[in-house]
Amino acid sequence: LTVQVNKPGAAVNKNMYGLFFEDINFAADGGLYPELVKNKSFEIDPGLIGWKALGGGFNLDAYAVRNEQGISASNAHYLRLTTRSGATGEAGIENEGFRGMGVKAGEAYNLSLYARRGAGSISGLTAVLVGAKGEVLAQAPVTGFGEGWQQYKAVLKPTATQNKAHLKLVLTGQGTVDVDVISLFPQDTWNHRPNGLRTDLVQLLKDMQPGFLRFPGGCIVEGRTLSERYQWKETIGDVASRSPLINRWNMEFRHRSTPDYYQSFGLGFFEYFQLAEDIGAEPLPILNVGMACQFNSGELAPMGTASTAKGPNASGATPATGDPSLDIFIQDALDLVEFANGPASSPWGAKRVAMGHPAPFNLKYLGVGNEQWGPQYLERYEPFAKAVKAKYPQMQIVSSAGPSPDGELFDKASKRLGELKAEYVDEHYYAKPEWFRENVGRYDKYARGGPKIFAGEYAAQSVAIGSPDNKNTWDCAISEAAFMTGLERNADVVGMASYAPLFANVDAWQWTPDMIWFDNLNSYGSPSYYVQKLYALNKGTRVLPVTMPAGAKNGADNLFASAVADEPTGEVVLKLVNYSSSPRPVAISLAGAKGLGKTGRAQVMASADLQTQNSLQEPKKLAPQASTFAVKGATVSYTLAPNSFTVLRVPAK
Ligand code: AHR
Repeated sequence: LTVQVNKPGAAVNKNMYGLFFEDINFAADGGLYPELVKNKSFEIDPGLIGWKALGGGFNLDAYAVRNEQGISASNAHYLRLTTRSGATGEAGIENEGFRGMGVKAGEAYNLSLYARRGAGSISGLTAVLVGAKGEVLAQAPVTGFGEGWQQYKAVLKPTATQNKAHLKLVLTGQGTVDVDVISLFPQDTWNHRPNGLRTDLVQLLKDMQPGFLRFPGGCIVEGRTLSERYQWKETIGDVASRSPLINRWNMEFRHRSTPDYYQSFGLGFFEYFQLAEDIGAEPLPILNVGMACQFNSGELAPMGTASTAKGPNASGATPATGDPSLDIFIQDALDLVEFANGPASSPWGAKRVAMGHPAPFNLKYLGVGNEQWGPQYLERYEPFAKAVKAKYPQMQIVSSAGPSPDGELFDKASKRLGELKAEYVDEHYYAKPEWFRENVGRYDKYARGGPKIFAGEYAAQSVAIGSPDNKNTWDCAISEAAFMTGLERNADVVGMASYAPLFANVDAWQWTPDMIWFDNLNSYGSPSYYVQKLYALNKGTRVLPVTMPAGAKNGADNLFASAVADEPTGEVVLKLVNYSSSPRPVAISLAGAKGLGKTGRAQVMASADLQTQNSLQEPKKLAPQASTFAVKGATVSYTLAPNSFTVLRVPAK
């Protein structure tokens, strides 16, 4: 192998390797967002999802969700409980959490609820954290209920660690009481924020040093119908007043059944921006472009304003009647930029400031539509992008090319998007592992000068796209590593890349494979996580050309390679994939280097068994192993392990 140290090529985008976050697989509620109570405001549906009466309701005359004189218009529903007169047993309700509640011994959990006393003598309740076998883990009295809505608080400190606990609220006295906004939230959150995020999961993200955070999805941006689309304005402000919305991934399908999947929006746009800042990533929001998911209803927002909305659009499709017009979507985008970057004197900037972030979030990228395609997309993209650019010329716009990898949609879209001067085209590819190895040259011939590539969603699928039997195997991860040598080599046109989906709850997922898995207490990175991390931590600053042995193509004989210079450290960084069951000695000549340091550093992921996976029990069964190696003379000699991904850092002048 020859690395041409004396012929440095394109600069590598410092934000090249990032994160794709979508609330799929319980990634937000039941995952990163650590509220333990499901349906805390009884606004889901609105009803009792997540709740049931103690003892089957034997000690209650009535328990029902009502909405007269609720706490506020956006939080109208609450639960009214009336005890059975003369009942002697426990009367009250319990919440199941998100497939149980994960609690840790000795940690503090803030309980908060609103109550309003009715007829009778109910003066308070006892909050009890109960373990899977019915054992009491913690309890605290909540007292002093009065006649109007009032907030009450207590702290629960469990005596044992459990990931399948639940919360009981046992009434004190007899009569009627109304309750609402019942929250149990760990004090231990990222940066100790009151509405903060789950620490172990944020840590895994931060450890990757991601260049960007794309949010909030994925298909949830689009919704199955336009009325179920993600609307960022509904996700900011007072947490208790954010109304839940059915999740696009609410589904009943074999073991992926999640008919209780809603978005509480406790993790909303403000929190996403804050998360991006916390982990040092550029925020990259993706907004709905006036199209519902084309795999579902495909509803279209009429073009123009409500009064000027045209009939059938250019593509011949008739827009759904009564849907908001495109101008509303465009205005949402303009207001979002103001929310993120505007001064306190601007209407939306003021909302950010009121939420506790006076400084701007420095939003630079905006995604217009997720995985959208066809003329319907292009005709909506055009006025959308034009309006954003007119007001915010510096904003970098990420456009969509629909699902790949067949290439056809992408080719059609990117031509027109090039004419429209989109900065990025978002390509998605979910395909078999061999596709990733065979397509390492995908961008070698991609037209320069047009939109750059944002490989916004990709992951090798061990069985088939959408198969519930897909696994996060080493075969998938090593194939992604091989493919990424092609992204890196083409860093002049590939500006950003992110694996997808990011998170999955082991007890409530709809899509596999996923980068990070967790239960209610623990988490681990898949082999794909460590591949992404190695790329991100070793992205370097400038591409260096690599010539393969005997002039072979990259990937020939299952050897894949790319190289970058890391100018601040003065190192040459090589990525090498040996997709073969034999060790492979390589001699790497660093052409043009004036001198090499004596010791190089290696990070190696290797497993003879391509089916190797990590798990909650063995979270680092396959993770990078660090070592050093001696460099003698002008050539680096190194033996690549069977089925391995190796990163070598060689000091070079
Ligand atoms: O990552 C899972 C889904 O795959 C995303 O929601 C969507 O954009 C793509 O089809």
